[in-house]
Amino acid sequence: MNVDEQAVPDRAVMEASVKVIHDHADRIFLWSYERDREQLVTLYNKAMGSQWNSVTELDWATDVDPEALVDHHSPFMVLCRAAADEPGSPLANWSDREFSALGVEQLKASLSQFMHGEQGAMMTAAKIVETVPWIDAKYYASTQTMDEARHTEVFAKYLHTKVGEAYPMSPFLEEQITVLLEDGRWDIAYLGMQIVIESLALAAFGDMLRRTQEPLLRKLLRYVMSDEARHVAFGVLTLQEYYQGLTEAELLDRQEFLLENTLRNRTRSTTPEIWERLGVSVDDVVPALMGAASRIGFNRFDAFQKAFFAKLVPNVRKLGLLDANNGHLRRQWGEAGLLEFEFADDTGSDYQTYDAVAADRAAAGSN
Ligand SMILES: [Fe+2]
Ligand SMILES: [Fe+2]
Repeated sequence: MNVDEQAVPDRAVMEASVKVIHDHADRIFLWSYERDREQLVTLYNKAMGSQWNSVTELDWATDVDPEALVDHHSPFMVLCRAAADEPGSPLANWSDREFSALGVEQLKASLSQFMHGEQGAMMTAAKIVETVPWIDAKYYASTQTMDEARHTEVFAKYLHTKVGEAYPMSPFLEEQITVLLEDGRWDIAYLGMQIVIESLALAAFGDMLRRTQEPLLRKLLRYVMSDEARHVAFGVLTLQEYYQGLTEAELLDRQEFLLENTLRNRTRSTTPEIWERLGVSVDDVVPALMGAASRIGFNRFDAFQKAFFAKLVPNVRKLGLLDANNGHLRRQWGEAGLLEFEFADDTGSDYQTYDAVAADRAAAGSN
């Protein structure tokens, strides 16, 4: 093989290791540097001060036993234990050892989706830097790009050094992020990432945080969540202003986008590879899981979806999207029972209460 041949990667290898996305948005170069959006200036200054160092501020020497991370009372584990009692279940003869192994795989699968989602967030934030027509928003989105790089990196490092081999990105999450990166309208990147996916992420990180006592993972999640709460606030501040200037027809598109992402698209990220790695056929285990779910009256996403909507719905209200077009979204979310969350958790302006980084630094300073 000559040098030239070596320099060109094999096409099949390359296609398996990268995904190419074609973006249809314009890149905006600005000639006005005037800082006229006070709240974004404040948020940017806050972001600069709250950046944390993933190497020196997390104790990577912590010893982690992956099996000790498993919460055997999580809804997923309870369901799988119940599935063992179903007639013909492939889990019928499983011992505690095998359930622990399952718990570890489930944790790896969750951390893997966090890692891939964070890379998607990094690319979306970078897209916002290039496409948003306000200088203060470009500055802020640049700090978010750095935050998301740190998040991607710490989840990858935790998986790789403490837990084990990652899983591929779920097709559901991949599709959700690809749509944002392809869209020609700059605000859709915000609406999809800052408002929808980051609300989902805050709910998912919060859920994992409640289920673990492991100090390194706990601190990592608290620090990532501090950043995410700021990102949500950035989305609310920007879109609140921008949507005031859109027509009802344009707002209808945004309302439809939210309906698509909440009510119509109920597919959730599942990771069938977990079962494959444990030597269990997915076709065999799914009927046992479904049988167990109906027998014990189990809805896996209930508590989790509540946490998600408690963050999403109040922020969408602030954007004016509930009531545009004669309450198009209010009516449909209302019928789905989501309006009970209209005044729930306030991540749109309450990012200070999530700031674990500032709290830790203040505590260290007062010692
Ligand atoms: Fe993130
Ligand atoms: Fe984020």
